[in-house]
Amino acid sequence: MNTNQVKETLDKYVMHTYGRYDLVLDHGHGSIVYDKEGNKYIDCVAGIAVNSIGHTHEKIAQTLTQQAKKLIHVSNLYYTEEQAEYAKRLVELSPHEKVFFANSGAEANEGAIKLARKYTGKSEIIAMKNSFHGRTLATITATGQPKYQKGLDPLPQGFIHVDYNDIDQVKDAITENTAAILVEPIQGESGVRVPDDDYLPQLRKICDENGILLIFDEVQTGFGRTGKFFASELTNTVPDITTCAKAIAGGLPMGVVLSSAKVASGFNPGDHASTFGGTALVTAVASCVLDIYEEEDLVNKSKENGEYFMEKLANLKEKHDCIVDVRGHGLMVGVELNYDCGNLVEKAQEKGVLINVANGNVIRFVPPLVITKEELDEVVEVIDEILP
Ligand SMILES: Cc1ncc(COP(=O)(O)O)c(C=O)c1O
Repeated sequence: MNTNQVKETLDKYVMHTYGRYDLVLDHGHGSIVYDKEGNKYIDCVAGIAVNSIGHTHEKIAQTLTQQAKKLIHVSNLYYTEEQAEYAKRLVELSPHEKVFFANSGAEANEGAIKLARKYTGKSEIIAMKNSFHGRTLATITATGQPKYQKGLDPLPQGFIHVDYNDIDQVKDAITENTAAILVEPIQGESGVRVPDDDYLPQLRKICDENGILLIFDEVQTGFGRTGKFFASELTNTVPDITTCAKAIAGGLPMGVVLSSAKVASGFNPGDHASTFGGTALVTAVASCVLDIYEEEDLVNKSKENGEYFMEKLANLKEKHDCIVDVRGHGLMVGVELNYDCGNLVEKAQEKGVLINVANGNVIRFVPPLVITKEELDEVVEVIDEILP
């Protein structure tokens, strides 16, 4: 198929739930992707913060091939060595003791909400305005953005929204029926919003004082994105439950719910399940992803290159009055402008850089963690050229 045929076919046969950019991507390697005409792009979207190890990593290709010839899927009615090895490794890397395997960020959060309700016997979840937690009915209700909830009534009950980064509002929202506080350590979809340094530690304290669970949605921030393996490490705050997805399996669908053994005891056999959760294939690949993180020192690279990138972007402020703020941690970076800048996506694309815009006026950069300083320099040059 040529470029137009691909677009026409997808528009004809796939439900129109996505506003796609005018680009057919064909192949890629590392931080670079190519369209069907062979044009090259530095990928600062990375499949929405997924491709942290870069595109088409040779080791992933090898692991996929070997595992596909050995065993792909048998369901959780049986044990597999691949799932055992990965579960041990991931749990030991985390501040938790148990893991549940799901297939996406929304599913991981759905599992966390169920676990919090089961464990506490209470129903209310305090979530944040402008948050994003996924598209299932419960996670879209947890998501503090009414535009995503339109036309979906009746929504599940028990979700209360307060302003992000406002401790007093959280205190006021607590009732005797509060099960958990659900929060992104840095809000991603609403424009890389970084809370005050004491916000998450204070939430921890409030949860401890009131017997409430603290759930960190690290679907976007986890796996080195912020220059720490988990963003919770930025403020040394240990949540009761962590959810991860996106970068976890190098682009294969996978999500996890992590918690202490005590909290995990809220689930009994039969309480929660997933046919595909933690297949032999996906866990073998996820183990390979952890190998790559170690071998290529990706978490430290994220921190170092993120600081380098943010400094260069901050320098653009002198030339471009439209820049209101440059913020983030590691390679999760937002540049807030004083106008709605959706049109910059196409302009950057024409100059060979893929970006996306969050919340209307924030250019969001979540490139592969393998991106080089030279590639980041090129990105900054393009941003400099396209900003008014
Ligand atoms: C913080 C956060 N939670 C949950 C999700 C939902 O993940 P998924 O699209 O894999 O269901 C996202 C997706 O962008 C996210 O950023």
